[in-house]
Amino acid sequence: ETPRTIAARLLAWYDAHARDLPWRIGPAARKQGARPDPYAVWLSEVMLQQTTAATVRRRYADFIARWPTVEALAAAPLDEVLGAWAGLGYYARARNLHACARAVARDRGGAFPDTEEELRALPGVGRYTAAAIAAIAFDRPAAVVDGNVERVLARLFAVETPLPAGKTAIRAKAEALAPHERPGDFAQAMMDLGAMVCTPRKPACGVCPLSDVCRARRDGNPELYPRKAPR
Ligand code: ADE
Repeated sequence: ETPRTIAARLLAWYDAHARDLPWRIGPAARKQGARPDPYAVWLSEVMLQQTTAATVRRRYADFIARWPTVEALAAAPLDEVLGAWAGLGYYARARNLHACARAVARDRGGAFPDTEEELRALPGVGRYTAAAIAAIAFDRPAAVVDGNVERVLARLFAVETPLPAGKTAIRAKAEALAPHERPGDFAQAMMDLGAMVCTPRKPACGVCPLSDVCRARRDGNPELYPRKAPR
C-alpha cells in the first residue's frame, strides 16, 4: 500500500467521521476555499497540549468570544489571561500564550508565520505545535506527531523499536505519509483515528479504514504497539 492510497483512505474516512470541534471548519466551507484562522488553530493547539478535547471544547469558546483576535489577546492584562486559564492547568502555558500573542502582534502585525521553523521561534511553540499550525492553518505537509498519532503509526507499520527510541522510526513514517493534498485534514484525521478507533485498549479494528493494511493487526495483536522498553 502506498502513502498516497493510505492518505486517500484516511481522508475519505475523515470526511465521514471527523469530530465536530469548534476550531475546525466544516467540509462544505472548506470545499469553497475557507481556511481556519491561524489564531484559532494556535489557541486550540496550545490548549490541547495537556488537556482533553472535551474540556478544551468549552474553554476555547470562552477565549475566542472574549479575545477574538491575536491583537485582542495581546492587549489583555496578563492576570486576566491567567484568570481565564483557570482549570486548564500548567500556568506556564498561559504565560507563554500571552507572550506569544504579544510577539505576533508587536513584531508581525498580528500575522502568524507560516513555516515550522519560524513558528518554533515563538514562545511556547514546540515541535508538535509548530507542525500542527503549519499543516492545519497553512496547508504545509508537516509531520504532526502526538501520542495518539504515535500509536496509530506504530501499529500501522508494526514498529518494533520500543519507545522512547522508537519515536525516531515513527517520525520517519509520519514524514513519509504526510500528503501534499489536505495535509491539515490528514493530520487531524490521524488524531481522530487515534482518539476514536485506534485506542490504547481494545482498538475498534472492525471500523478502521486502514485495518486491512495494518501490520500490527495482521500480526495478531495491535495492543502490543507502541512497544515500550521494559522498566
Ligand atoms: N489534539 C490536538 N490537536 C487536535 C486537533 N486539531 N483536533 C483534535 N484533537 C487534537
